[in-house]
Amino acid sequence: MNIDWSKLGFHYTEPDYIVRAAYHDGKWEEPYATQDKFLHLHVSATCLQYGQEAFEGLKAFRGVDGKIRIFRWRENAKRMAKSAEGLYMAPVPEEIFGKAIHLALEKNIDFLPPYGTGATLYFRPLLIGTTPRLGVGPGRDFEFIVIPSPIGPYYPGKFHCTTFVVNRHVDRAAPFGTGTFKVGGNYASSFRATEPAHAQGMDCLFLDARYHKYIDECSAANFIGIKESTKGQSTKYNEIEYLTPRSSAILPSITNDSLMTLAREQGYKVTRRHIRLEELSEMSEAAACGTACVISPIDKVIDPEKNKIYHLSDEPGPVLTGLYHALRDIQFGRAEDKHHWCEVIEN
Ligand code: PLP
Ligand code: COI
Repeated sequence: MNIDWSKLGFHYTEPDYIVRAAYHDGKWEEPYATQDKFLHLHVSATCLQYGQEAFEGLKAFRGVDGKIRIFRWRENAKRMAKSAEGLYMAPVPEEIFGKAIHLALEKNIDFLPPYGTGATLYFRPLLIGTTPRLGVGPGRDFEFIVIPSPIGPYYPGKFHCTTFVVNRHVDRAAPFGTGTFKVGGNYASSFRATEPAHAQGMDCLFLDARYHKYIDECSAANFIGIKESTKGQSTKYNEIEYLTPRSSAILPSITNDSLMTLAREQGYKVTRRHIRLEELSEMSEAAACGTACVISPIDKVIDPEKNKIYHLSDEPGPVLTGLYHALRDIQFGRAEDKHHWCEVIEN
């Protein structure tokens, strides 16, 4: 194996095996590993014709103690089941999901990056509709696939700031649309906003599609903002608030859920509510968070239409840096996993 682990970005590296399981006549088959990375798919399959597709993203880590940790895969299984129901697909039972992830890990163990490189083994579970169909409607046959790939940081550089840009001409997902499901269509429909942003070395901050007033999501990640306020008169103390959007159009992030727990443990107030874009000017720090990007601090948000730039912090700030390390320490086995988020595999 000739991989320079520390140079990996968020790009596909061909693994030895993928894992597949098909669903026909109301039943899932046992997941199996194959080296064939191509599908023999009917040209009229519902995934191709009508976008009947959902996916997931999760990671396995080689810990400081040499053990392997898979982070909260059951949460990904549950979310994929919700996406499946949202698109009228057969949900993948948790047991099949788990078997497929474990088999993908076992068959590609050489692709698990060593401890200390910062790289991890990413799993991309995929669910597609395979029934040939021309009439508009869902299929009855499905294929579940797990594609592993070693990956490095999502944004270039290990832990540095990214600039986001607001775009009111492209919406990611409608309120009560498919934004809460992890389906490919949400990403394809974002390209009109994300590609021009990427071409300028930035990423896109999506606003709520109804009013274009509230922060929805950071491209392929949730948004976190940190507000600090001084409370009390005689006994002055600083209250630190972890803010994250409430919206019917965003993906319920497993990373954000974990960070909210860690933030509470660190004594911060955690609030999930509508967040007006202008509130960025009251925040000391902000970040995108997700499996791929972990916590990616935001240095500024540009709103070209309003000719406004919101400056956050040029360097990763103390609150988000602390949360980043708290999460990474659990994932790499350097800190106690009080919430049993990691499945630990001796190897
Ligand atoms: N929001 C979107 C649109 C995403 O694609 C992702 C990535 O999975 C997230 C949020 C973060 O979710 P998670 O932390 O579960 O990876
Ligand atoms: C993830 O964070 O795992 C994602 O799937 C986001 C993106 C790379 C699609």
